[in-house]
Amino acid sequence: MIVVRMNLLILVTLIKLGEGTHAFLDLLKEAEYEPNSEPITFHRRGTSRPAPSDKLPVLDLIENPSSMFDPPESELNHRKLRKALGRDFDSEYMGIGRPIIAVFQPNGTVTVKKRKGRPKGRRPDYIQNVGKPIRYGNQMRLPGLNVNRRTKRKIKKYMWNYTHCPVVYAWKDLGIRFWPQWIKEGHCYNGRSCSIPPGMSCRPTGSETRTIFRWHCPLNKKGQLMKCKWIRIQYPIITECSCSC
Ligand SMILES: *[C@@H]1O[C@H](CO)[C@@H](O)[C@H](O)[C@H]1NC(C)=O
Ligand SMILES: *[C@@H]1O[C@H](CO)[C@@H](O)[C@H](O)[C@H]1NC(C)=O
Repeated sequence: MIVVRMNLLILVTLIKLGEGTHAFLDLLKEAEYEPNSEPITFHRRGTSRPAPSDKLPVLDLIENPSSMFDPPESELNHRKLRKALGRDFDSEYMGIGRPIIAVFQPNGTVTVKKRKGRPKGRRPDYIQNVGKPIRYGNQMRLPGLNVNRRTKRKIKKYMWNYTHCPVVYAWKDLGIRFWPQWIKEGHCYNGRSCSIPPGMSCRPTGSETRTIFRWHCPLNKKGQLMKCKWIRIQYPIITECSCSC
């Protein structure tokens, strides 16, 4: 008899980088992978720069189309599942049904965390030099911006706005093999460059994970379906973007 060890079923690797703020889902696969079984594989969305931050948002899962891998109606008792998820259920990021906003704003909503009309967080260092004289060593010095303080402050605020990278949140339908089926994902807006001159773009620099259920159907050595069940998995969500190379 094959002993199925819970901790081997799905391996979700969160790799922390540099300052520890970057985290991403590296892979979600069946560790007890059998040659005949269909492994759970992700494919990457968008461009393929090899930077780790490009691994978020989570890649779309290539699912086995067979309905054998779907949870039966009897296993889709929302009340029971809601109770089983317990405190991990986060209504801000999870939806059992399609959220209304996902109907009207399928492309997501831009969320700028503001404080006193400025993007929240520390002001980027380079902004403090905006308007100051421009020096090239001792050889040359170009004058600073000859405008009043109020205007200078306005220009700095504008620059801060211009280079700020808000998170765009959009609801995603994960399908019935996940519970809850809807998750609010973060994306970094990339419709324009965030730098002057252009060149840099908004990339994920922060993420959090949420725990949800995955209907998991392991296969044995002979490729036969074993008992399916709900297991917990970690789903990463981008919560912060920054302007970078
Ligand atoms: C969402 O994006 C698509 C393609 O980028 C666009 O065609 C569509 O009009 C957008 N929908 C809304 C409601 O903004
Ligand atoms: C910066 O953006 C905020 C909205 O996040 C806006 O209210 C404010 O007027 C902008 N400031 C400038 C100087 O563009």
